[in-house]
Amino acid sequence: MTAGEVRELGWIGLDPKSPAIDSLKSTLASEPGLKGFDVFSPDAISAIAKAFHRDGFAVVKDVLSPQALASLQTGCDRVVQEMLSLDPEARGNRGSHRYSFGGASLTGAQLHQPEWVELLEVSSVMQMIEAIFGSPDFIVRSAGGDFCLPGAIDYQPLHSDISDRKEITLKPGKTLVLGSFSDPEGLVDYRDLPCPYISCNFLTSDWTSLNGPIRQIPGTQRSHQPIPSLDEEPDWMRVSRLFPLKAGSIILRDVRAWHGGTPNVSQFVRCMPNVEFLAPWYREPVVRSLPLALYDRLEPMAKYRCRYIVEQPGSPLRLGYRREFGGTPENSRSRPKVR
Ligand SMILES: [Fe+2]
Repeated sequence: MTAGEVRELGWIGLDPKSPAIDSLKSTLASEPGLKGFDVFSPDAISAIAKAFHRDGFAVVKDVLSPQALASLQTGCDRVVQEMLSLDPEARGNRGSHRYSFGGASLTGAQLHQPEWVELLEVSSVMQMIEAIFGSPDFIVRSAGGDFCLPGAIDYQPLHSDISDRKEITLKPGKTLVLGSFSDPEGLVDYRDLPCPYISCNFLTSDWTSLNGPIRQIPGTQRSHQPIPSLDEEPDWMRVSRLFPLKAGSIILRDVRAWHGGTPNVSQFVRCMPNVEFLAPWYREPVVRSLPLALYDRLEPMAKYRCRYIVEQPGSPLRLGYRREFGGTPENSRSRPKVR
């Protein structure tokens, strides 16, 4: 059983044979996906970087070896099964049947899982990140990603993974700071910067029109336009889904670029674990998430890149799941939480 083939999961409280689902399947099957996007080979480093800067993302095939892919599938299977045992109603934390691996975890990451740690040493990915940032001195922010179950029938609203700096008062004396970039003179915001933050998403299964590929809107990474809600979103954006793609491929995303999940009406879980990198010149508060025992096995450069997230001697990580997996953020809600 692999992450691309987990059966008998999903469709909780839904009838996959209902006329409404049949109609959704037909629509999804008839839509072509994002037209003409490039799928690069791992050695096309400069073309990958160029496409990334132009479009806000780049797709690369054949990145994971069969062994590396099998290991990642095993890890995803294990974590998916564990999370679903805690959420039998498939309420999810990115809408119904839709989950963030990182958001569910107390550390905001899955770096206590060895299969995610293996992703820190995929040398071709590190070369691509270096080419995009123009320097080898980038750092690892986190590693998590997402998955959606069969029966994730809603579109996740388009969103960007970072936002303007906001300070929210939780209770007197306790303030939550979201986002980090802030210009006291208000002349520039994060949209005016070169790419500060990359997510490398790994595909553990083939992506088709029916199993919930993400939709990605090219060229939106520096846009100051408001991101359309589901009601406002034009058809051409809604159908900009990335498929067909093969397991072992990656999607490098400038996390500012607008994107969102789409329905999974297949019989298979669609997983997309990730690693997140910050540019050499960009910093934001990060949460320590990498156990020392796993860090110790890394090669020196990977260790250096993980210096802000490794467990500190004498301060053991608190591992486990957040209550309700951290809940679904406002910008991922496509319908009321309780149906
Ligand atoms: Fe996202």
